[in-house]
Amino acid sequence: MKAQGSGFGIQDSGRKSEEAHAPVMLNEMLGWLAPKDGGIYIDGTFGAGGYSRAILSSANCHVYAIDRDPSTKKFAEILMQEFPNRFVWILGNFADMCSLLATRGITSVDGIVLDLGVSSMQLDIAERGFSFRSDGKLDMRMSQEGANAEDVVNNAGVDELADIFYYYGEEKMARRVARAIVAARELQPITHTVQLAEIIRAALPGKPGKSDPATRSFQGLRIFINKEFEAIESGLAASEKLLGKGGRLVVVSFHSLEDRIVKRFTHSRCGKLGEHSRHVPELSNKPALADAPAFFLPKPEKLKASSAELEKNPRARSATMRMMTRSEGVMQ
Ligand SMILES: C[S@@+](CC[C@H](N)C(=O)[O-])C[C@H]1O[C@@H](n2cnc3c(N)ncnc32)[C@H](O)[C@@H]1O
Repeated sequence: MKAQGSGFGIQDSGRKSEEAHAPVMLNEMLGWLAPKDGGIYIDGTFGAGGYSRAILSSANCHVYAIDRDPSTKKFAEILMQEFPNRFVWILGNFADMCSLLATRGITSVDGIVLDLGVSSMQLDIAERGFSFRSDGKLDMRMSQEGANAEDVVNNAGVDELADIFYYYGEEKMARRVARAIVAARELQPITHTVQLAEIIRAALPGKPGKSDPATRSFQGLRIFINKEFEAIESGLAASEKLLGKGGRLVVVSFHSLEDRIVKRFTHSRCGKLGEHSRHVPELSNKPALADAPAFFLPKPEKLKASSAELEKNPRARSATMRMMTRSEGVMQ
């Protein structure tokens, strides 16, 4: 169901077929999570509930599903009826999963899944303002709270806008885009997605065959508005705290910037960064427990969608799944 990110997602989100909304890498996620009877699992990115449903169907377990978007409640209500007493939906940010679960008496879980980014349903609803395929108010807030894209586009300075497009959208001509926006808003406020896309396109004429030049800047704005990278970092740190020994973590990301954050976390918390070499004398003062590896890394450490899935759902081509097992934070 994911359709975001690098170069094709935002403008490619119009297909309404079931396949276009199908959860990406569902079998791989389930295979790694291996839900067991009596287990407690967190689906940190509930969306339409495809992952939650699969987990609940594969074992007699409990799922605590989190989503920051209140509009996902309607999907949660279906699962509450289907799996009474085994499914809990929580409106919130997975960055806060420790406190969200603690208030429900849960301090340790058997598995956590994060299917990062924006859902294809969020992209497909024009009024949510994530997409420029169809016109909508510039919003882009998953949680429907706080500053929206219209506020940022009309009030941020050139430097701040350029940083957003450069760092979160990987737009090489970020400053050009930022200047064009500031010039355009002096004539009239920028309120709609198609209006913004046209301003960006005019600043960056696209080369034939390339993706729409507005895609990168839209991605940058969305990541900034939703503080997506901060949430991933906090969510991964929270997962380490919540997973019991042998607990499993699965993270599906959709563009290289997201995946880089996950990879950096896995490598640092699995002891892969600065691994001990037999040619280097061992340190007398071993790392403190907090710095010791907390996860085992499997081989391979990441998976891509199968060719069978790609045939049915080309959107899966940018998905990368990384997985780890909690090792109780003990130096191996
Ligand atoms: C790609 S969709 C997940 C799809 C889901 N796996 C399914 O099977 O339907 C991502 C969802 O995660 C939510 N989300 C993104 N970042 C979040 C965060 N930091 N905290 C909670 N929910 C988040 C979005 O609102 C969206 O509904």
